[in-house]
Amino acid sequence: MPTEQLATSHFALETVDVPEVADGEVLCRVLWMSIDAAQRAWLQAATYRSAVKVGDTMPGFALAQVVESRCAEFAAGDIVSGDLLWQDYVVAKPQDLTRIVPKRPLSNYLSALGITGLTAYFGLLDIGEAKPGETVVVSGAAGATGSLVGQIAKMRGCRVVGICSSPEKQEWLTSELGFDAAVSHRDDSFRNALREACPDGVDVYFDNVGGTTLDTVLGSMAYRGRVVCCGVVSQYDTTNPVRGARGVPGVLIVKSITMRGFLVMSDFADRYAEGLAALEGWLDDGSLKVREDILEGLETAPEGLIGVLNGTNIGKRMIHVADPS
Ligand SMILES: NC(=O)c1ccc[n+]([C@@H]2O[C@H](COP(=O)([O-])OP(=O)(O)OC[C@H]3O[C@@H](n4cnc5c(N)ncnc54)[C@H](OP(=O)(O)O)[C@@H]3O)[C@@H](O)[C@H]2O)c1
Repeated sequence: MPTEQLATSHFALETVDVPEVADGEVLCRVLWMSIDAAQRAWLQAATYRSAVKVGDTMPGFALAQVVESRCAEFAAGDIVSGDLLWQDYVVAKPQDLTRIVPKRPLSNYLSALGITGLTAYFGLLDIGEAKPGETVVVSGAAGATGSLVGQIAKMRGCRVVGICSSPEKQEWLTSELGFDAAVSHRDDSFRNALREACPDGVDVYFDNVGGTTLDTVLGSMAYRGRVVCCGVVSQYDTTNPVRGARGVPGVLIVKSITMRGFLVMSDFADRYAEGLAALEGWLDDGSLKVREDILEGLETAPEGLIGVLNGTNIGKRMIHVADPS
């Protein structure tokens, strides 16, 4: 198990027989694999799922095509999504799969029309309660979730400031996606740049990264601001994530700030249809732009995940494994 930063040497690629499918199961050909920063956290310890152990095949969200079905719910040829494995062929149970009838490029069902889009939509609007005229700050702003959060906030009539790590990302956010400003968490002037970009303070902070970025933004919150705790990327790639909240209550009390976590798969599963309808409508009318950062081939998954942890991705990182037949 990795003790510090994840490396490709922590992974092994093995060739094995295609798994046997039993009654009540389906055999799926994996087409697209989602690369999620949280996969590194799954190697640390049990989270919202049990920990991945040495020797396990890496789990991950994926799109697949049913190649053999021994259940009534699915037929060969169906396109499905589910929590599968970093494998070409995976046996799954029907209750763990969702049928997709694609109306847009299949990859969109891992990005804007997948967990990523739903996380941005419900996190910003339900947990953050972003309102017109408010200032919204989002970290990981040029990443999968953050780039959608910022655009939805603009549609909501908010002033939007993105936090990312490079001039290229800053330029993309402001020129292409319409963010009002973008600042780099790697610049020495980060704290001041954020203050200048948010002269009235931060009403909603959509936090994808935690760590020192969260500390910095907390210092710029407005009265009755809301912090949306979506993820903690800065603390995933280590066996010693920083713990402790001793100084936080004081900051929250002074400005009546609310800090609230959420897990989209548990908290909003019953409202996915609502979120997907909105997201699909915005994609169709062009008001939401989706950027997909695609690597080719199952064997690129380890470097894909390591890259996300280091910010090499722009938009939603995913792996193209195969095309549907
Ligand atoms: N709550 C939920 O239900 C839910 C669901 C899905 C995902 N998530 C969470 O959402 C977050 C974003 O996920 P994503 O898939 O959209 O990833 P992503 O934003 O596409 O990629 C992660 C980004 O984090 C940034 N980053 C990495 N290390 C950092 C550090 N030390 N300090 C600051 N930024 C750092 C990098 O961008 P820059 O360094 O360039 O900014 C990188 O591009 C993750 O925390 C994930 O766990 C939560």
